[in-house]
Amino acid sequence: MILRVSEHPVVILLTSDSHCYYDTINKQIVYAETELGVSIDCVIHLGDFGLYASHLHDYFIRSRKRFLKPLYCIDGNHEDFTALPKLVRKYETYFTYLPRSTVHVIGGYRFLALGGAAYMDSMITESASLITDEQIDRCLRLSPDAVDIIITHDCPTNLGVPNTPGMECYGTPGFARSEELSAHFHPKLWFFGHHHKWFTHQDEGVLYQGLCGTWKGFVLLDDAYRFRVVTHQLEWEKPSLIERILVKLRIIRPDQPSGSNSR
Ligand SMILES: [Fe+2]
Repeated sequence: MILRVSEHPVVILLTSDSHCYYDTINKQIVYAETELGVSIDCVIHLGDFGLYASHLHDYFIRSRKRFLKPLYCIDGNHEDFTALPKLVRKYETYFTYLPRSTVHVIGGYRFLALGGAAYMDSMITESASLITDEQIDRCLRLSPDAVDIIITHDCPTNLGVPNTPGMECYGTPGFARSEELSAHFHPKLWFFGHHHKWFTHQDEGVLYQGLCGTWKGFVLLDDAYRFRVVTHQLEWEKPSLIERILVKLRIIRPDQPSGSNSR
């Protein structure tokens, strides 16, 4: 049963891969509410949120900003995993971290959270970002009927998510044993980020949806398992000289903020 917590139907805004550009989340909330006329209840962020002490301090403490709606996030592969436990405690009044292999009731849905990613490269993949067998096993110890929707940072394997040009060397997109989660829970929906592209796939009753980064849009999920993809490209300030050099050197892509050069 879906709980109604306000007068209007519950709407959850899902987004991903903000890479420390927290203000892009608020900009998309404002767009959804003012331009689309949708009242947002909360936000779920699918990883690469940017759990870094200096960026969080600048945004929440020094600039005294807050998210416009309650925000829940899982981890991606670009976070400070050493500092993560301390950071999510310190900023728990600003956002709520959903640890791996745990279930959370949000907007009446039971979400299984599983941050992290498959191994890509030791230069860009901290070991703590890897999804472990133990974390998969913990998920599988949950009752099959305990989960409505799965949220992950990386995508399930064998969905056909295309590789990002230049990243083929990291192998086929997806994390190992993801198919065991599909078979165990048979969730109605499965949302993921990481690959910075919209991707929809349906298989054996599960509807999979991949998300672009926050600067390109978001997903609106209602309280009846219906969702829609909203593409809304945010304007970026003129890139700095350093950013232009990084683009020239192909270290970052021109359509992304620095820091989001990789999945
Ligand atoms: Fe990622």
